[in-house]
Amino acid sequence: MSGVLSGARDSANPLRQLTIGQLRQRTSLKWREYPDDVLPLWVAEMDVPLAEPVARAITDAVARGDTGYTTGTAYPQALAEFAHRRWGWDGLAVERTTLVPDVMHGVVEALRLVTDVGDAVVVNCPVYPPFYDFVTHAGRRIVEAPLGEDLRIDLGALEDAFRQARAGGRPAAYLLCNPHNPTGVLHTAAELAAVAGLADQHGVRVVADEIHAPVVIGGAQFVPYLSVPGAENGLSLMSASKGWNLAGLRGALLIAGPAAAGDLARVPFEASVSTSHLGVIAHTAAFRDGGEWLDAVLTGLDDNRRLLAALLAEHLPVVRYQPGQATYLAWLDCRALGLGDDPASVFLDRGRVALNPGTPFGAGGGGHVRLNLATAPELITEAVRRMAAAVA
Ligand SMILES: Cc1ncc(COP(=O)(O)O)c(C=O)c1O
Repeated sequence: MSGVLSGARDSANPLRQLTIGQLRQRTSLKWREYPDDVLPLWVAEMDVPLAEPVARAITDAVARGDTGYTTGTAYPQALAEFAHRRWGWDGLAVERTTLVPDVMHGVVEALRLVTDVGDAVVVNCPVYPPFYDFVTHAGRRIVEAPLGEDLRIDLGALEDAFRQARAGGRPAAYLLCNPHNPTGVLHTAAELAAVAGLADQHGVRVVADEIHAPVVIGGAQFVPYLSVPGAENGLSLMSASKGWNLAGLRGALLIAGPAAAGDLARVPFEASVSTSHLGVIAHTAAFRDGGEWLDAVLTGLDDNRRLLAALLAEHLPVVRYQPGQATYLAWLDCRALGLGDDPASVFLDRGRVALNPGTPFGAGGGGHVRLNLATAPELITEAVRRMAAAVA
């Protein structure tokens, strides 16, 4: 594989700046989980150098020895300005935000505000597997509302799930993934308004995980859940983590709609003080100064999703892929290959390509794999070549 990506290539595209040798020196999960002969296109890390404004903010902080406890409102302010510039949304009020250590811990805190132990949390399966782990670890029950055949929210299934979740008059929440991981589907304003209406009608509280919001491709428009009519008592989690590859510099914001401000005030001290100060510095710099770098990544991702579609059409035409408008994840329906529930294990064992298996994403995930597009096009080409060879 040394010939696959041997030298730095394209200075305009952050996805083409690192050699495979440099990537293999990384010590984070994506490049360490599997042996060196495996091409890792799985967990949601991006194969990019750190955005320059973020790198500068952190190195300046390190030079100052500025590594104490975090304070202040720079992070929500930077996000509010980003939301205004990118999404034309002015509804993010700094005073209705609180720092949380990361998105998933923020999701759990939000669910604790609006449900009790034993209550139900509705999710749209197939969905990001930790939704199951974190929700059940917090003592809540999952109720699945499967996505439709078109991979979009099925309002009928959602209503059934809301009814089931609210049985006996218990509180219930809906953990919305906006945009959706793993399909990359960007929910429309009309869909989100319909969701808000349904949630209101059934007395279900909405917690929107919007971690992928900055990663919207090809000129499509992200709609913040809290911006739609009827979402006033919603809660949202946002972060620069996915857009700028900052999982190692953790930090996120829990944001309340106007009618959820009282709930937000109940977030316990211990939940909001655990956020990393270096994380906050990095995330603030990303939202404030990282727009140009993000745009370069999004252009690269747009090319990569088209490349993947073309490669699959040529080498694995029975694999179904509907390119998403958001996230850097591709959800591949491999059922026609006849490899059973876990095609990822075949691609790994025979092809030496690591993809996420679909089953942990919940009902409807069997026979699917998730491929991470946030890498060099050369590696995507090599991955599809290996996948095709694995099933030849
Ligand atoms: C939908 C979604 N939520 C949350 C996370 C994880 O966020 P964090 O590391 O901030 O908990 C991810 C990571 O890929 C994700 O895709």
